[in-house]
Amino acid sequence: MRTGEVLSRLTTDIQMVDSLLTTSVSYALRNVLTLIGATILLLIVSPKLTGMVMLITPLLLGPLFLFGRKVRALTVESQDRFAGAVGFAGESVDAIETVQAFGREASARARFDRAVESAFAASLRRMNARAWMTALVIVVMFGGVSLVLWLGARDVVAGVMTPGALLQFVLLSVFAAGAVGALGESWGDVQKAAGAMDRIDELMKAEPSIATPPHPSPLPDPPRGEVSMSGVSFAYPGRPDLPALEGFDLTVRPGETVALVGPSGAGKSTVFRLLLRFYDPQTGTVRVDGVDVREADPGAVRERFAWVSQEAPLFSESAIENIRFGREDVRLEEARDAAERAQALTFLDALPEGFDTPLGERGRSLSGGQRQRLAIARALVRNAPILLLDEATSALDAENERLVQAALDQAMEGRTTLVIAHRLATVLRADRIVVMDGGKVVEEGTHAELMAQRGLYARLADLQFRTR
Ligand SMILES: Nc1ncnc2c1ncn2[C@@H]1O[C@H](COP(=O)(O)OP(=O)(O)OP(=O)(O)O)[C@@H](O)[C@H]1O
Ligand SMILES: [Mg+2]
Repeated sequence: MRTGEVLSRLTTDIQMVDSLLTTSVSYALRNVLTLIGATILLLIVSPKLTGMVMLITPLLLGPLFLFGRKVRALTVESQDRFAGAVGFAGESVDAIETVQAFGREASARARFDRAVESAFAASLRRMNARAWMTALVIVVMFGGVSLVLWLGARDVVAGVMTPGALLQFVLLSVFAAGAVGALGESWGDVQKAAGAMDRIDELMKAEPSIATPPHPSPLPDPPRGEVSMSGVSFAYPGRPDLPALEGFDLTVRPGETVALVGPSGAGKSTVFRLLLRFYDPQTGTVRVDGVDVREADPGAVRERFAWVSQEAPLFSESAIENIRFGREDVRLEEARDAAERAQALTFLDALPEGFDTPLGERGRSLSGGQRQRLAIARALVRNAPILLLDEATSALDAENERLVQAALDQAMEGRTTLVIAHRLATVLRADRIVVMDGGKVVEEGTHAELMAQRGLYARLADLQFRTR
């Protein structure tokens, strides 16, 4: 499901339920009261005729339920399509520069057009069903009134009923009929909101596949900073046929620095995602400090990690809020210190409001390398026992990379660190290098050992030395 689709459910669907609860309910309530009052008076004026009117009621309920169900199904459909259109628009607006750079404005507009048209068509079908429902209710209702009027007129002619009473009866039944008609319409609203509710419900019922077990095993305290993965095979839910990891084994001792290297798509970032338990592997176990992460509270597991992800996403809040994201109770001095170590202090202080400057959506007002340094500061303040660095310095120039690397080296002291890097300079510092290819460990050792093996690592390393 696209982000925009989720947002559409959270907004327009909830809006529908909201308008039912606020407007429609009071309208329906008013009509229910009218109906009750009119029925009581009708019973007083002429029980016999009222009884006949009551006989017509089941005739009304048939079409009401039939069309009601249809309105509900069509609501789900039209909202789904609307959400699709919103999702698509969201994606295009989000990547507006890419859309413009590739000259795809017209096609993006056309696709959005089609999506909206199709949502509108579904909406029309829903309105159609609702209109038929209301029309039928009104026809049956007023047909009934005419019938009763005819029967009443015969009673008047026969002298059983006075003309005044008939007039009273007809007036009251018009009130009652109007109320029933309005209630039929409200029923349409209820069905519409029920359709929207179905969609919200679906969202709320979505069980996270990563859940806390009923009795989570506690992680050892104080933290040791040990991770191990054994026999792990994993394929992403979206690509069940393509294993991202296959029989992957890795143990990192407390305080050790391990570098993961390998070609793009080898599964390096996937290792981090499994450690952070965004996914569970299909086979094998992931352990943090000796505890199977499946038996632990995911929150407690993640607390042990500070992660600098490959994309390093920021939030639209201020710089200080973004750093605080790493640890909520961080003091300003600590945040400044972390920013300094991550070489972010100079450019942050140069912003119009310094640390309080809002960074724009996803931190777009910063350059790629600046974003990356802020993400490193965010990870540094976290003070977690295990550091996960995924290409953390890839967007930096050589000078800044050297400085940030020095800060990271310092942070790695006494911490367990897993670092993914393509650049050899970063890898050389590791205690151990694990070479991955196709989701497996293919080589392992120190730089010197791996160079002597003349395998994949030596080949990758040679290529880098040659280009220097
Ligand atoms: N969310 C996802 N859904 C489906 N497949 C995915 C997903 N994320 C990654 N993959 C696939 O899993 C494999 C491993 O991806 P991963 O991100 O771990 O590679 P990587 O080693 O980090 O590569 P890079 O160096 O380019 O970052 C790739 O083949 C990729 O196509
Ligand atoms: Mg990656």
